[in-house]
Amino acid sequence: MSPSDNLSTLPIIGRPHKRIDGPLKVSGTARYAADFHFHDLVYAVPVCATIANGRIANIDTSSAARMPGVRKIYTHENIGTFYHVSKASKVMLDEKRPPLEDNQVRYYGQYVALAVADTYEHAVAAARAIKATYADVKAPSVSTRLSADKPPEKQTERGDADGAFEHAPVKIDQTYSTPTETHNPIELHASVALWDGSHFTLYETTQAIMNYRAVMAQMLGVPTDNVRVITEYLGTGFGGKLWPWPQALLAAAAARDLHQPVKLVVSREMMFHNVGHRPHTQQRLRLAAEKDGRLVSLRQDYIDMRGQLSDYQEDCGEASGFMYSTANLRVTGAYTERNVGTGTSMRGPGKVPGSFGLESAMDELAIALNMDPVALRLKNEPEKDEEKNIPFSSRHLKECLTHGAELFGWSRRNPAAGSMRDGDTVLGWGVAACNWMAARFNAEAKITLFGDGSVRVASGTQDIGTGTYTVIAQMAAALAGVDVDAVKVVIGDSDLPPGPWSGGSMATGSMVPALVQAIEQAGEQLKTIASENESFKGVEAKELVFTQGKVHRKDQRPDAGKHFRDILSSARVAQVEGHGKGQSTFGQKNPQYSMQSFGAHFVEVAWQPKLARLRVNRTVTVIDAGRIINPLTGRNQIEGAVVMGIGMAMFEETRYDERNGKAVNSNLADYLMTSHADMPEQMEVVFLDYPDTKFNAMGARGIGEIGLTGIAAAITNAVYHATGVRVRDLPVHIEDLL
Ligand code: MOS
Repeated sequence: MSPSDNLSTLPIIGRPHKRIDGPLKVSGTARYAADFHFHDLVYAVPVCATIANGRIANIDTSSAARMPGVRKIYTHENIGTFYHVSKASKVMLDEKRPPLEDNQVRYYGQYVALAVADTYEHAVAAARAIKATYADVKAPSVSTRLSADKPPEKQTERGDADGAFEHAPVKIDQTYSTPTETHNPIELHASVALWDGSHFTLYETTQAIMNYRAVMAQMLGVPTDNVRVITEYLGTGFGGKLWPWPQALLAAAAARDLHQPVKLVVSREMMFHNVGHRPHTQQRLRLAAEKDGRLVSLRQDYIDMRGQLSDYQEDCGEASGFMYSTANLRVTGAYTERNVGTGTSMRGPGKVPGSFGLESAMDELAIALNMDPVALRLKNEPEKDEEKNIPFSSRHLKECLTHGAELFGWSRRNPAAGSMRDGDTVLGWGVAACNWMAARFNAEAKITLFGDGSVRVASGTQDIGTGTYTVIAQMAAALAGVDVDAVKVVIGDSDLPPGPWSGGSMATGSMVPALVQAIEQAGEQLKTIASENESFKGVEAKELVFTQGKVHRKDQRPDAGKHFRDILSSARVAQVEGHGKGQSTFGQKNPQYSMQSFGAHFVEVAWQPKLARLRVNRTVTVIDAGRIINPLTGRNQIEGAVVMGIGMAMFEETRYDERNGKAVNSNLADYLMTSHADMPEQMEVVFLDYPDTKFNAMGARGIGEIGLTGIAAAITNAVYHATGVRVRDLPVHIEDLL
């Protein structure tokens, strides 16, 4: 078996399988970061700045320090040293400034002190008794009218975009915006830190334990080997838990100082300021076409709104260079700084707002051309990746569009806005394409095959809640020729061989080569052991092969061979262990293929003008993401993304108070998200099945993010079709439609 073999047809791969961790979760036995409790544990509660731009003049901690149960109060004067991460180390961190580093305040809610006490209630009371006074307080800049702070940077360019735009017969020039969005995983950010005099053990809620360990080691000034990060389960993260945030350092520093375990749980309100958000974006799209719909120019100029402590960029232009065929194109990016917290990746970073712009603009262009929006996209399907000038490893966007159109009944669509009525209800039908990259991280895994027929897989990755435990178990079971029940998956501990981040929709795809190599290594040892087994008398190890759990002679079919269970038990060997490693595809010089997933969303909205009521009635989504390892958890990913996309289109926006920079709707009642009552009656998800074996041996690309790209545009395109109102600034407000 070599990583280039096509393993996409293995049994168990592609079979719907319930989450193996489901029973632990529904019975409350799965432990999340804040569930860890230790003898002598103390509780830390941060004090948050009530200004967004100024400096701390004084912090009076005297009465708080004398309150019952209080262990210690920390400020910038006594927290000790945190170090900065070096660019050279290539670790990932968005808020670069360590907490409590100085007396400057750059955003509302920034931590200015920390109260530590024997109970949570005592710590809350002490935190409230800490009195901070501020000086040089300036009005915060939180305006969402964006203009670039510095000249925009050219991201990609080909041909003569300006000239072609100038001379084209049909064109549109529009500006679109998406608001600041806050990640609202139900599990809050939380840190439980232990220090034993030389080593930290950190129970965290992170999508990337290995990076977390590296960042914490650097910032705390201890060797990487002296930090262990544990994340057994996550109550999701949506990208907000990719990198460490300041609370983790505060908990660790207090644990080191007090020689006691410290727990710090970020409150829901703090989640709106202190642990990232999707930045507000604004993009101007200029598209031009010939009368037959052929795109002749695409220009996209975007700006994102950035906090003061990070260089995180919401890259709205990532997909624009290769989505559609056009000879002339230019994409630029710029930013403007505000007194808001630190931005970070949120599910489908860049492409989600980017696709809202591009897919809305394509709809507007279709209308200007008097052309069907599906037909316009089909007309501009590229032969290859025109940005990188290389072929796609596998691209089936056309089939996503045509198959989706058929399932949805698109041919019955009357293109005139407001023309499709059902009594007092006006129906609107909209479409948009989606895309997400396929890439792999470095990843290592260990597979142990035991004499009792069971299998253990270990890797320093984590399950964000999407089904990673289950998918790893399926892949290992398929490779080792056992049932999924026989596999134990051990992840969520940075002491394990370094595994991939749960980010960029890359965890599953990154695991494939590591698992394949690990099983191959275990197989080599089995062959040696088997050559001494009586059933292979006189056969040398090199004449044997290992296929899906069985050792057999090269001239024999696998089922005529011997299962590893029998080989190990007859040799009285307890186990064999293989270690595998997969290489990152990032920064590959001269890649042969452009690797991308594609898809299409079709949406029906219902608009009831008399009631001023808008809802999404039904959706059809077709996704081309290679081989789907588990269609059950896979469909769940796309459905979840559609639900989140309804929120993006119609509800979600973080609004800042111009007076003090506070996120005014910093709670789950005022920050609106899709609820059960908002769910479409029908949500159909179809996966095309084109294993991308150029990407990995199982042909599996990622599916975590693609479903959220395009969906907001599909909804606003449908809203236009129903109402004749083009919403270019998300979310749709009912008053926009009246
Ligand atoms: Mo995803 S935003 O890479 O967690």
